[in-house]
Amino acid sequence: MAEPSLPTKKLEGKVAIVTGGASGIGEATAHLFAQHGARAVVIADIQDDKGRLVAESIGQGRSAYVHCDVTDEGQVKSMVDRTVQTYGRLDVMFSNAGIVSRSEQTLLDLDFGQFDLLFAINVRGMAACVKEAARAMVEGGLRGSIVCTASVVARKGGKRSTDYVMSKHAVAGLVRAASQQLGEHGIRVNSVSPFAVATPLNCQMLGMEAAEVEKVYEPYSHLKGVVLKVGHVADAVLFLASEDSAFITGHDIAIDGGFLT
Ligand SMILES: NC(=O)c1ccc[n+]([C@@H]2O[C@H](COP(=O)([O-])OP(=O)(O)OC[C@H]3O[C@@H](n4cnc5c(N)ncnc54)[C@H](O)[C@@H]3O)[C@@H](O)[C@H]2O)c1
Repeated sequence: MAEPSLPTKKLEGKVAIVTGGASGIGEATAHLFAQHGARAVVIADIQDDKGRLVAESIGQGRSAYVHCDVTDEGQVKSMVDRTVQTYGRLDVMFSNAGIVSRSEQTLLDLDFGQFDLLFAINVRGMAACVKEAARAMVEGGLRGSIVCTASVVARKGGKRSTDYVMSKHAVAGLVRAASQQLGEHGIRVNSVSPFAVATPLNCQMLGMEAAEVEKVYEPYSHLKGVVLKVGHVADAVLFLASEDSAFITGHDIAIDGGFLT
């Protein structure tokens, strides 16, 4: 894909972290950030081989992979500190790492072992990434942008995935609280809420190939003739990460083809 010409680059010189950047939405967003002139994109994930490949494909010196399990606050802190030490600043945190549970997690069959793991990643890990990014931005005196990945199920219930639905409601609360508290430092905090995208997360949950997953969800989108791809989500994240959204904070962008309306 050709890189946009210089005047259209929206993250020129910025330093960004993408958690869950080894795959799916995070991977697509890391590439888009780089195409828009980011000086460095740090890929933070636990899939080491995939994460290294993403960083290599963006290019040495412009991207690095850091093993970081977001359930461990110490690892999150050292990943953020390493980013600032290496590149001198942190402008953008895309806190995106997340999972779904292996089983359906209907309320009557709720498995609390899976529930606790999911909450450790989707909620506690999300909060740790927002906290540590905000700390680095405040210390650096930077007006940074933090974007979290929520979901359409942050705004409605579901017939399964009770723990996942609850975790994404928590992300919405985190974004609202953090945006109010960090506003005085000039730090913006927003979220994106995708409808179903055919990423490995979704394909594994349904046990289907990407094309089949897209077919399953197609009837639920009011917008016809467009299939939701990771790039559509990345576009919304780029908007929230860049100065195009300079006065927007505490906001959630649904990328849902009208599903929630
Ligand atoms: N795919 C969808 O339909 C959809 C819809 C709405 C929201 N989301 C959200 O989008 C985000 C990205 O998911 P995706 O669909 O791209 O899935 P994905 O599985 O392709 O990517 C998720 C990434 O998170 C990483 N990860 C998992 N646990 C981690 C941990 N403990 N520490 C660090 N990294 C970890 C994984 O290794 C993976 O690379 C998630 O928060 C997910 O809940 C996805």
